[in-house]
Amino acid sequence: MFAHLQAVPPDPILGILAAYAADNNPSKIDLGIGVYRDETGNTPMLKSVLEAQKTLAETQTSKSYLGPRGVVGFNSAMSKLLFGRDSDTLARGRVRTVQTPGGTAALRVAADLIKHTHPDSGIWASDPTWGNHLALFPAAGLAMNSYPYFDKINSDLRYDNMMSALKNRRPGDVVLFHACCHNPCGVSPDPEQWEAISDLAADRGFTPMVDIAYMGFERGVEEDSLAVRLFAEKCPEVIVASSCSKNFAVYRERVGAISVVCENEQKAADVETVIHSLTRKSYSMPPAHGPAIIDIILGSDDLTALWLSEVGVMRDRINGLRKILPEKISASGISRDFSFLERQSGMFSFLGLSVEQVEQLKTEFAIYTVNSARVNIASLNEDNIGYFVEALKAVL
Ligand code: LMR
Repeated sequence: MFAHLQAVPPDPILGILAAYAADNNPSKIDLGIGVYRDETGNTPMLKSVLEAQKTLAETQTSKSYLGPRGVVGFNSAMSKLLFGRDSDTLARGRVRTVQTPGGTAALRVAADLIKHTHPDSGIWASDPTWGNHLALFPAAGLAMNSYPYFDKINSDLRYDNMMSALKNRRPGDVVLFHACCHNPCGVSPDPEQWEAISDLAADRGFTPMVDIAYMGFERGVEEDSLAVRLFAEKCPEVIVASSCSKNFAVYRERVGAISVVCENEQKAADVETVIHSLTRKSYSMPPAHGPAIIDIILGSDDLTALWLSEVGVMRDRINGLRKILPEKISASGISRDFSFLERQSGMFSFLGLSVEQVEQLKTEFAIYTVNSARVNIASLNEDNIGYFVEALKAVL
């Protein structure tokens, strides 16, 4: 069976995690994987999560299967979080949300759903997009295409080029958007631009798919779901893949959800039956622990308030670093303009380095990042930011 099998290289992002762990240099910095870190370099558990976990341990009476829906309270709480408590889309029964093991599984279920119902559909993703998008959709048998997005020269959005390209998309095409904190470039459309993008989707009839993995890390939990809400208002069908890994800091618990917005309640119910049949053939039953914790948090006003304040702390720290970093870079005598870091949002930005410079950061300074020079800003702190800026100066 395996005689002809060849080893494959590690995933670019996960490979860095392993290389960093094996490095003994005490000054090492991991700017690779998208995991939030606090000022001490730790990825803390949130107080709201610890509280809810305690409640869960005291109240859970069985570990029997939950069935394909998983934690139903979680599903409905996620619908409210994404579409808004008073959403007309929810009131009309147009949405079904089903928990998945992380946001990546939500994307994979979405891919399988598209393949099931419309096998010739292509996916259009921003150029660039998360590396795993490029692997995941073709793995489900879907063709992957791109639309212009990031302007490398100005570190900005290629808005006009993007809109012209999207004008050519038609019913049956699926266009993938990052709701906020674009991974990898950190550039998002502003609210006015989202209005125009969602008008275009309604006009051209393509299906918007929204990947929302950093809700709360850009402007706020409510604000960051703007794209989801606009598409749901204006378009008959929308697919949303959400992740709780980052904003609830429950990475290893694997909590995410697929939400499908349909023209009417009956169609939404029909789609859910297909989702259940797809997940049955894949992982059979969903896990309970992570979604049950989030169900408890979102079901309690006090814990929700605590969680929102904890998301605010993470967002403020990242935005603080986005302000300090370009200041430190410029104070070090580096002449290249890095002020774009402050205009962008979320954990990621491109530094605009060559593969050779990325390699030099690793070999000479034990600073690890992906070849595209995407960096996770949240890995910097008062202790290591000076070292990082000196290293950057050395390689530029
Ligand atoms: C990242 O892009 O680093 C994160 O989304 C984590 C991952 O799984 O790649």
